[in-house]
Order: sequence, then structure tokens, then C-alpha cells
Amino acid sequence: MRKTIIAGNWKMHKTISESIELANGLKRELFKLDTQDIDIVICPGFTALAEVTEVIQGSNIQLGAQDLYWQKEGAFTGEISSLMLKDAGCSFVIIGHSERRQFFSETNESVNKKLKAALSEGLTPIVCVGETLSERESKKTFKVLDDHIKNSLMDISPEDILKIVIAYEPVWAIGTGKTATSQEAEEAQKYIRGLLIKMYNEEVASFLRIQYGGSVKPENIVELVSEPDVDGALVGGASLKVDSFSEIVKLASGVKK
Ligand code: PGA
Repeated sequence: MRKTIIAGNWKMHKTISESIELANGLKRELFKLDTQDIDIVICPGFTALAEVTEVIQGSNIQLGAQDLYWQKEGAFTGEISSLMLKDAGCSFVIIGHSERRQFFSETNESVNKKLKAALSEGLTPIVCVGETLSERESKKTFKVLDDHIKNSLMDISPEDILKIVIAYEPVWAIGTGKTATSQEAEEAQKYIRGLLIKMYNEEVASFLRIQYGGSVKPENIVELVSEPDVDGALVGGASLKVDSFSEIVKLASGVKK
């Protein structure tokens, strides 16, 4: 049985004090949940990581970042390395989010380099894949998934692939309020698992966790994670409030027991 994983992507929101407040609120709301049943991850902005680490220390909440650069250190102004993320208390890192692909020229090739850098530092990468609205409308969803999965995961060993999480995020569902139906999510995620069987094997594919992301909220989380290939969610907007994110986590934790 794959363990459900719910991650909150705070994107470019929250000052340090607001981040501390949100993390404290989540810690209070979620302390009863057993980490045997669910992984809870929050991904604040870079400036708040070190402070949020202090807040969640000893709790059932883990820390993630939203991006990294693949070099360990050096003259790369403005960039953050896997070493620095680890030092700030991160155990997860989101890689290849569609907003980075769309606004910051992220490619499968850079995703692949970042993925390897994260793995080498012992961080768990959450690798994002997914099609745009026009790609879906022109029936290219599976083609895009082929491209994102095969090229982003290029040369990742069967041993390392087990350490990553994949997030299927249809771009048309991100921040739009338009959630993919649970059937649409399942269809795409089952397809991704099928690709992993071809690239690796049945055992690897059945072990790997695939999250859904795109307008996830308390109202739709149960239906989504009830699908066999949906192992959790990457949550944007609804992760910015204690009530909605803790509700999503609590609801999700009961589904696959
Ligand atoms: P959303 O964002 O939940 O606000 O749609 C999801 C994401 O971008 O990870």
C-alpha cells in the first residue's frame, strides 16, 4: 500500500511572520495524525524555510522547498542549492512545476539535472508533469506525459526512482478553480504508472507515489484520493489557510486505510 502524501505549495506567498503563523496553526490542527498513515509536507518560500523548520521540529509535518539549482555551490547569483535546502531543514523539493516551465524557461533537461542534484543530497523530489489546456484539447495529453516523464526521469536508476514523488498537475486546473474530475486524474495517473512499468518494472511502478495537483480543496480531496492511482495531492491556493489545508490532510488520511 502506498502511503498518502499531501504537500502544500505556498508559492510566492507569506512573509516570514505569516509563514510561522501558518505553520504553527497547522501543527496545532494536525498533531493527532499518525505519520504511519500520511506524509504531510509544507513548502514555504525560501526566506521562511529556516524559521518554519524551527516551528515544525518534532511534529508530523515535513518541510519542502519549491525549487533548487543543480550545482552544489559556486558563482550562480540568485540560486539555491540542494545543500542549502538541506541545511535549512528541507527533506522535500518541488521540481519542474508548470509555473517554472511556463515563466522561467524550465525544461525537461533542467528538471532532470535538478532531480539528480536533489537525490544526491538525500532530498525527496516532487517532480511535476502535466498538459496545458490546448494540449488537452488537441488530444496531446498522453504525448506530453510521455515527454515529461521519459525526459525528466532520464537516467534515473531503479533504486533512485523509488525515492521520488510524481505530481500530475494539468496546467488548466492550476489556480483556476477547475479541478480535473477524479476520472480524468485517474486516467492520466494510470497512464503515468504504465509508463513507469515500461521504463522500470511492475514493482517499481507499484511502489511510486503519484499526487494530483490543480484546484484541490476539502470538497474534492476524498473523491480524488479514492482513485487507485491517486496517492495524494499537491495543493496550492488551499494550502495557504490553516482550515482548508488541515481539512484536506485530515480527509485524505482516512481514505486509504
Ligand atoms: P492550486 O495549485 O491548488 O492553487 O490549483 C496547485 C499547484 O500549483 O501546485
